[in-house]
Amino acid sequence: MSSPPPTVESWLSDEQSRSLANDVLDGLTKPFKELSPKHLYDARGSELFELICGLPEYYPTRTELAILRDRATAVVADTAAAELVELGAGAADKARLLLDAMHEAGTLRRYVPLDVSESVVAVAATTLADAYPGLGVHGVVGDFERHLEHVGRRDDAPRLVALLGGTIGNFPPGTRRSILRKIAGLLAPGDHLLLGTDLVKDPRVIEAAYNDSQGVTAAFNRNLLHVLNRELDADFEPEAFDHVAFYDRRHEWIEMRLRAVRPCSVLIAGLDLRVEFAAGEELRTEISAKFTRPRVGADLAAAGLALEQWHTDADGLFALAVAGRASKDGR
Ligand code: AVJ
Repeated sequence: MSSPPPTVESWLSDEQSRSLANDVLDGLTKPFKELSPKHLYDARGSELFELICGLPEYYPTRTELAILRDRATAVVADTAAAELVELGAGAADKARLLLDAMHEAGTLRRYVPLDVSESVVAVAATTLADAYPGLGVHGVVGDFERHLEHVGRRDDAPRLVALLGGTIGNFPPGTRRSILRKIAGLLAPGDHLLLGTDLVKDPRVIEAAYNDSQGVTAAFNRNLLHVLNRELDADFEPEAFDHVAFYDRRHEWIEMRLRAVRPCSVLIAGLDLRVEFAAGEELRTEISAKFTRPRVGADLAAAGLALEQWHTDADGLFALAVAGRASKDGR
């Protein structure tokens, strides 16, 4: 049996570039300049991120994959998942481990990849429809902060929503909880969330992961300025900005910043905006929060979800949490 043709729906287009313009107007005119990490992922940025995932210092990707290899069967057994909704579809190798386990359990019915990158969704949709005969694939091109409602429900197949890679750590605590609450809205009783989180550990290990010796993370960070130059006709000189990444021990998160090495006056022609950087002034480009089991449990609880299973590696570097809807009557 071959698969029905995959469908791909797009909810982006010029709305995406509007979001960049709005974010830049907002973030680069603040007293402490900042910009959302989601703008790091143009084609080049996504390529650089793939390279980061293979770096010796960057442990999260390979650790999460190892946990999945080990535990995908248990996750599928515990959730009876028939439909996989993957938020931030990225590299299909993680989805494959889950889809393989669903296939083996005999429950596999549908795969719904959602990503801001049209090409990521299109590739995931066609490759996986080919790889699993009979699999229904419904790709959604969108931003999971804004387009979750377009992940429709087709039947009552038990759903597993996966948010992997530690992406949830990119959001500050309040936003994180509101996103988890929106995700909870995709879950019916009996459905589950699979949430990947990077864990609190020796700050030296974390800082090395964001300051790799080959400078790939620095290039990934600076690529943001190339995005602004291209998309908004800005005149940043990326070489005039240093890559900075440090672990904030109080908040237990990594911050990535770009630091002007000399005074810079930047024209963002597309916005008719001039932005001044003093020497040493920094632009925050990412936070990446590190978690503990109690923090994940509390964030889930705040979103109406209950932590059911906790899968981690032997060194406690990374964790996969399985959560379901908290029962309304508190039982
Ligand atoms: C894709 C958001 C999980 O925070 O570790 C990698 C992105 N930034 N190196 C992370 C990233 C710098 C990554 N996430």
